[in-house]
Amino acid sequence: MNASSRILLVGSGGREHALMRQLLASPRGVELWVAPGNGGTARAGERVHNVAVSAEDTAGLLALCHAERIELCVVGPEGPLVAGLADAMTAAGVACFGPCAAAARLEGSKDFSKALMARVGIATARSASFSDAAAARAYVASVPWRLVVKASGLAAGKGVIVCDDRDEALAAIDLILVERAFGDAGDVVVVEERLVGEEVSVLAFCDGRHVALMPPAQDHKPAFDGDRGPNTGGMGAYAPAPVIDDAGLRAIGRDVLQAAVDGLAEDGVPYVGVIYAGLMVTADGPRVLEFNVRLGDPETQVLLPLLATDLVEIIEACVRGRLADVALRWHDGAAATVVAASGGYPGPCAKGVAIHGVDEADALAGVDVIHAGTVVGEDGVLRTSGGRVMSVTGRGADLSEALRRAYAGIDLIRFEGMHHRNDIGARVLGAAHPRAGGGRHGDSGRDDSGRDDSGRDDSG
Ligand code: AMP
Ligand code: GLY
Repeated sequence: MNASSRILLVGSGGREHALMRQLLASPRGVELWVAPGNGGTARAGERVHNVAVSAEDTAGLLALCHAERIELCVVGPEGPLVAGLADAMTAAGVACFGPCAAAARLEGSKDFSKALMARVGIATARSASFSDAAAARAYVASVPWRLVVKASGLAAGKGVIVCDDRDEALAAIDLILVERAFGDAGDVVVVEERLVGEEVSVLAFCDGRHVALMPPAQDHKPAFDGDRGPNTGGMGAYAPAPVIDDAGLRAIGRDVLQAAVDGLAEDGVPYVGVIYAGLMVTADGPRVLEFNVRLGDPETQVLLPLLATDLVEIIEACVRGRLADVALRWHDGAAATVVAASGGYPGPCAKGVAIHGVDEADALAGVDVIHAGTVVGEDGVLRTSGGRVMSVTGRGADLSEALRRAYAGIDLIRFEGMHHRNDIGARVLGAAHPRAGGGRHGDSGRDDSGRDDSGRDDSG
């Protein structure tokens, strides 16, 4: 067996279940240990082992690699990367797909990432950083534009406050710096110009020097239709997102992602893994809102199904610094995913609720059910264990077909309190959206129209 046929996958969300499917589809025939995994990875068959080791338990993960002779680790979430998991793995002789702590500061410290962008000339919102509340308040009074106030550190996606006026910005500064609502993550605030436009996520594989772009994707962060309600981790996504064209994508690849990787490399910090820029496409061009140091969730659930090249081959090339040798291929067509969330999400929500209809939905042509907050109980019943419970991905010849399939799948899934958005991708399709009433309802969503199904794993 070659080294990377035994792989540790770290994390427990939809991103990790989607990664599991894509890794299992590799012609290399991999065996996976998922720590800690979820109900989807638990039901994935003989080649996948859920292990009850937390993503934060570095010593436990290293012991697992040692015991199982694992030589490649793929890290899903940002927390362990910022805490130095990749450094620990590499020191122990385990290749790690995910950046070292010095590179992960790109997400772990917004203050660091703004400073890097300023240094290498990446277009981003105007901003200033403060640890002193009086200085931050004075800045708010001194600028004419609307503001966004951000805790600089990791705050589980909750540390960003988009403000309508100065009073809200002042209150946000107090919340973070004085009341310390996000703890140490709020030691520093970044006060940033509020930008207007459409958001787009641009991700790339990276081997320390070269970046290889993925298609642009669009996430839907607010909880409810029409972008109303509180922000969530993401309620759905689709790719490719037409908000930027091929030339625009290439420009972002060069001027944002490659520029950031080059800037880190100048400091002797190699970036290995996936680099993710969240951008606002403004009237003046794209501007970076944030960097993430990992795949997005739920972007992964639409990007990986479009990948035609073996993911294991790409990851091996990244950890060996050989990405330039791999030509990435992508399927034609589109993918869309709709998240099924627990009642109350993104606030407190019930757990342990029985889930029905998953196998029926997963059996539809062009449909993948991706688990996130699920567990298989001792009674063998699949139950909810978190806010975002699962997402249903539809693949198709175009966005319209992908969405029809995703919604056909989600219509089969039932659990008490379940809610989902009905307008994923509606900005692109308008009245032609399958939930808008103007869709082509007579059209059969059942033929598979010749799409390559290689991203599919049915062992669960
Ligand atoms: P972040 O975690 O930095 O991506 O912020 C979360 C969300 O807040 C983004 O997806 C945007 O919707 C919004 N946001 C962040 N920064 C800005 C900005 N400068 N202008 C407008 N909206 C922003
Ligand atoms: N979907 C946004 C994120 O993963 O941060």
